[in-house]
Amino acid sequence: MSKNIAIIGGGNLGSAIAEGLLKSKFNKASEITITKRNTATLHVLKDRGITVTANNVEAVQQSDVIILAVKPFQVADILSEIKNDLTKNKVFISVVTGVLISEIEAIIQQKLPLFRAMPNTAIAIQQSMTCICSKHATVKEIDYVNDLFDKLGSVVTIDEKLMEAATILGACGIAYALRFIRANIQGGIEIGFDAATASLIAAQTVKGSAELLIQTGRHPEQEIDKVTTPKGCTIAGLNEMEHRGFSSSLIRGVVASYNKIAKD
Ligand SMILES: NC(=O)c1ccc[n+]([C@@H]2O[C@H](COP(=O)([O-])OP(=O)(O)OC[C@H]3O[C@@H](n4cnc5c(N)ncnc54)[C@H](OP(=O)(O)O)[C@@H]3O)[C@@H](O)[C@H]2O)c1
Repeated sequence: MSKNIAIIGGGNLGSAIAEGLLKSKFNKASEITITKRNTATLHVLKDRGITVTANNVEAVQQSDVIILAVKPFQVADILSEIKNDLTKNKVFISVVTGVLISEIEAIIQQKLPLFRAMPNTAIAIQQSMTCICSKHATVKEIDYVNDLFDKLGSVVTIDEKLMEAATILGACGIAYALRFIRANIQGGIEIGFDAATASLIAAQTVKGSAELLIQTGRHPEQEIDKVTTPKGCTIAGLNEMEHRGFSSSLIRGVVASYNKIAKD
C-alpha cells in the first residue's frame, strides 16, 4: 500500500526527490507533501498536485515517511520542532550530509526506524546513485526504502561509517563527471565541432561508457583494451593524458574532497 511522504526542505535535493517520485509514479502527487519557509519557489510542484506548505509539524503528522532534506545546520531546530510527531510507526530518512544517526537520535529521543540516504542530483531524472544505511528498521521497512530509492536510480546498502565516502564518490561525483565532459566538449570544439554537437557526442559517449560497465560488470581496462589499437590514436592520447597526471589528478581530487568533508 502506498504511503504518504513528507519532504522537509524543498531545496535542490528535496525538489529533485519530489520530481523523481512523481515521474516514477512511486507515489501519487496527492500523497506527497513538501515544505520550506518560502513556499513561492515550489509553485511548479504545487501546480502538479503536490501539497506545498511551510508547516513542518502538519506535514509530519499527515505522513508515514519523512524525508529530511535541509542543510546540516538547520537539522537540530527542525528535529526539535517535529520530534513529538515522529512516532515509531513512521519511517524517518535523512539525506543531510554529515549528520549521524546517533545525533538524530540524541535530539528526537525516540526509537523509530532511522535511515540515512546519500543520493545525487540525478534523482530528478531517476538516475541517482543512492547509498543507504539504517538503524532500528525492520526488513519490511528496509525493503520499502530500498524500493523508493530504486525507483529513483540505483541503491547500495553501506555501513554508516562509509557515508562521507559515499557523499564524495556518489554526490560530488556528479560534478567530477560533468567537469570531465566539459573538458571533452572544449577539446571537441578545438578539433572542429560546434558546441552543441560536441556536447551531445561527449555526454552520450560518457553515458555509453558507463552503461558498458554497469550492464556487463566488466573492469574499465577490459573495455579500454578494445579501443586501443597498437600504435593507434587512442593509446597515444591516453598515454599523453597519463603523462600529464590524468588518473593521479582524479584520485587526488577525490581524496582532497574526502579530507575536506572528514575535517569539517
Ligand atoms: N545537492 C546535492 O547534490 C545533495 C546530495 C546529497 C545530499 N545533499 C544534502 O541534502 C541537504 C539539502 O541540500 P540542498 O542542496 O537541497 O540544499 P538547499 O537547496 O539549501 O535546500 C534546503 C532547503 O531547506 C529549506 N529550509 C530551511 N529551513 C527550513 C525549515 N525550518 N523548514 C522547512 N524547510 C526549510 C530551505 O528553504 P527556505 O529557506 O525557503 O526554508 C531550502 O530550500 C544538505 O544537507 C545536503 O548536504 C545534497
